[in-house]
Amino acid sequence: MKQRILVTGGTGYIGSHTVVELQNAGYEVVIIDNLSNSNKDVLDGIEKISGIRPDFVEADCTNIESLRQLCKDYPGIKGIINFAASKAVGESLQIPLLYYRNNLMTLINLLEIMPEFGIEGIVFSSSCTVYGEPDVNPVDESAPIKKATSPYGNTKQISEEIITDYLNSKEGLKSIILRYFNPVGAHPSAEIGELPNGVPQNLIPYLTQTAIGVRKELSVFGNDYDTPDGSCIRDFINVVDLAKAHVIAVQRMLENKSERKVEIFNLGTGKGVSVLELINTFESATGVKVPHKIVGRRAGDIEKVWANPQKANNVLGWKAEIPLSDTMISAWKWQLKLRERGIM
Ligand code: NAD
Ligand code: WQD
Repeated sequence: MKQRILVTGGTGYIGSHTVVELQNAGYEVVIIDNLSNSNKDVLDGIEKISGIRPDFVEADCTNIESLRQLCKDYPGIKGIINFAASKAVGESLQIPLLYYRNNLMTLINLLEIMPEFGIEGIVFSSSCTVYGEPDVNPVDESAPIKKATSPYGNTKQISEEIITDYLNSKEGLKSIILRYFNPVGAHPSAEIGELPNGVPQNLIPYLTQTAIGVRKELSVFGNDYDTPDGSCIRDFINVVDLAKAHVIAVQRMLENKSERKVEIFNLGTGKGVSVLELINTFESATGVKVPHKIVGRRAGDIEKVWANPQKANNVLGWKAEIPLSDTMISAWKWQLKLRERGIM
C-alpha cells in the first residue's frame, strides 16, 4: 500500500516540484491549495511528468473544518508537507495581518489535526531569512536567529517556535524544518515552474523576463557591497534538488529515523554566487543576453549569505547536485514555455 502524504500549497512553485518527486518515490499525494498564488493547470504539468494526477482539494488551510473534511475524504494520511503560505516580503510589510493570519493559522490548524487523524509527521518550509545578515558564512543551523526584518520573515521564526513548543507537548509527533536558501530554476521538462505574479520582486523571474523582452532592463541592486564584485551573494539552489530533500525528510520521519522530535536542516548548495556572476552564468549557459544596469541598493537586502549544508549532506544523505548552468537553462526553458502558452 502506498503511503499517503498531504501536500499543502502543492500547486505552488516548490510544492509542485515536490509532488512529482513524491510520486516518483512511490507516495500517494493529496494536495490542498486555495489557488491564491497558483492555478489548476499545474496539475496537468505534474501529470505530464509523473504520469499520475494527484488528488486535489481546493480549500483554505486556515479553515480547520476543511482540513478535517479532507482527512475524512482521504483517510490514512501519514505525513504533511506544509508549503502553503504567503511569501512576498514587500507585501508582508503592507498587509502584515494577512501574513500572520495565513501563515500561522495554516500551521496551527495542521498541527491540531495531526493527532486527531493519526498523522505522524510534518515537514515545514522555513527560510534562510531567519538568519538575517549572518555573522559568519557559510551559515550553519546553530547560527543565531536574528530579529526579522519583515512580517513574512517573522512568520517563519514564529512558526519554528510553534512547531517546537507543540511537539514538546505531544508524544508521537515528529517534524523536520527545512530552511531553504534561494530556490531557483524549473523542472527540466518545462512542464512546471515558478508562476510570475505581476512585476517580479525576485531575481530570476525578473532576469528571465528581461531576457525574453517583457522587461527592458534588469536592475542590479548595488555594486558597492563588501563582496569580490560588489554585488550581493546568495546560495541559489535548484528547485528539483530542493524537492528531493523533502522526500528524504518524509521518509526519515515516517521510518522513525529522526534523532529528535524536531530536526532542522539548511538546504543550499554551500556555494555563494554573486548577482553579477549569476547573470554571467545565465548568459553563457543560454547564449541569451540580459540587458542590465547597476542601480542603488535595495532597502533591507542582506549583503551575503550562503549555506553550510553539511548537516543535510551527512544526516539526510542529501546533496545539491544540479549545476547552476543547468538551473539557468531550466529557468530559461520555463520562460519560453510561458511565452508559448501566452502567459508571459
Ligand atoms: P508559492 O506561492 O508558489 O506556493 C504556495 C502555495 O500555497 C500557492 O499555491 C498558494 O496558492 C498556496 N496557499 C497559500 N496560502 C494558502 C492557504 N491558506 N491554504 C491553501 N493554500 C494556500 O510559494 P513557493 O515559492 O512554492 O513557497 C513554498 C513555501 O516555501 C512557502 O512556505 C514559502 O514561504 C517557503 N519558502 C519559499 C522560498 C522561495 O524563495 N520561493 C524560500 C524560502 C521559503
Ligand atoms: C536576490 C539578490 C537582490 C531582484 C528573498 C526573500 C527571502 C527568501 C528568498 C523566502 C539580492 C538582487 C533582485 C532584482 C537584483 N524567500 N536582485 N535585482 O532577497 O535573497 O530573498 O527570497 O523565504 O526571505 O527575502 O531574493 O531573488 O529577491 O534577490 O539585483 O531585480 O538579487 O538585491 O541581492 P532574496 P531575491
